[in-house]
Amino acid sequence: MSKPLCRTAVLISGSGSNLQSFIDKTAQGEIDLDLGVVFSNKPDAYGLTRAKTAGIATECLEHRNYADREAFDRAVAEVLDDYQPDLIVLAGFMRILSPWFVKHYEGRILNIHPALLPAYPGLDTHQRVLDAGEELHGSTVHFVTEELDGGPCILQGRLAVDPGETADELCARVQAVEHQIYPEAAHWFGQGRLQLRNGQTLFDNKPLDVPVIRDFP
Ligand code: GRF
Repeated sequence: MSKPLCRTAVLISGSGSNLQSFIDKTAQGEIDLDLGVVFSNKPDAYGLTRAKTAGIATECLEHRNYADREAFDRAVAEVLDDYQPDLIVLAGFMRILSPWFVKHYEGRILNIHPALLPAYPGLDTHQRVLDAGEELHGSTVHFVTEELDGGPCILQGRLAVDPGETADELCARVQAVEHQIYPEAAHWFGQGRLQLRNGQTLFDNKPLDVPVIRDFP
């Protein structure tokens, strides 16, 4: 009997183009994940429509209805746990997670950040990269820890900044990279090739001290 697929919950707040790449790649058999539920903290997030179109269960809770961050996160976890997720994929989920939530899903939360971490944590990365005159930019898939954009890096997609390109143009190119690297890293997790042990990433049972890097044109 084949191993059951990794049950995955995808958390979004907006467009969900990364979610779409997961939907497409699972449908095409390029990655092995069971996309069990898509959760949004915003009822009008377009990603919910993408999920419904693909026949994936959707859930939504609005954070403003809860007293504090942890109260919201506990409510989210109660909803997600009905789907018994093995993996939580943050895909444009615009919430800082409480330590409680990170602990609850310890070693099972992935995020993608649009910069070559540890450079440029936080918001507005593309403009900041252009302003600093950087030659390289990209995106990073990392494990989530309590430190914002600070968990161990797994996979980076890297590209050269074109002279004269705008932040919007750069953002579009970085997003195209994200749509390749994020499903790939999640697939590794689903295959049991990635683990987080005492803050250290193991890839195929060996310490991963620097992320795997893919260069894109
Ligand atoms: C992505 O660029 C990702 O790096 C960041 O949020 C954005 C989400 O975009 N964390 P989308 O909703 O997947 O289109």
